[in-house]
Amino acid sequence: MKILILHGPNLNLLGKREPQLYGNLTLGQINAELERLAQELNVELVIEQSNYEGVLVDAIQHASDQNIDALVINPAAYTHSSVAIRDAIAAVGIPTVEVHLSNIYKREEFRQHSYLAPVAVGQISGLGVNSYLLGLRAAVAICSMDNG
Ligand code: DQA
Repeated sequence: MKILILHGPNLNLLGKREPQLYGNLTLGQINAELERLAQELNVELVIEQSNYEGVLVDAIQHASDQNIDALVINPAAYTHSSVAIRDAIAAVGIPTVEVHLSNIYKREEFRQHSYLAPVAVGQISGLGVNSYLLGLRAAVAICSMDNG
């Protein structure tokens, strides 16, 4: 099983970016935890980060060529603005789990709407690095269910 992990804009700054909201772990440390869990679950990860909407759209489009079974995405600020990322997820039809480090429903009103949520299987928000780890577990469970 192969899972694509996509990190959106500004997540490359984790560790020094508003740690009271996003925690102290760097993106590299989060990815290392994901790789450790992937080994335990016996799945392969492809991990990408971009600050550009179009690059994230391309990565989602290319996911089917790479035989990706599921997508775990933290769209970051694009959560609240991107019809293009939502349409890409709908177009490829790959089961998607949306994750957020912070609880977007406890924050500013503009963060409380996700353009992606309606095309995702589910969303995990507010659990820090555990949002990603549970998101990966959920993605694997969803694919296992799909395969009977
Ligand atoms: C975020 C929440 C978004 O509102 C914000 O723009 C981010 C990170 C999170 O992981 O909590 O960049 O997706």
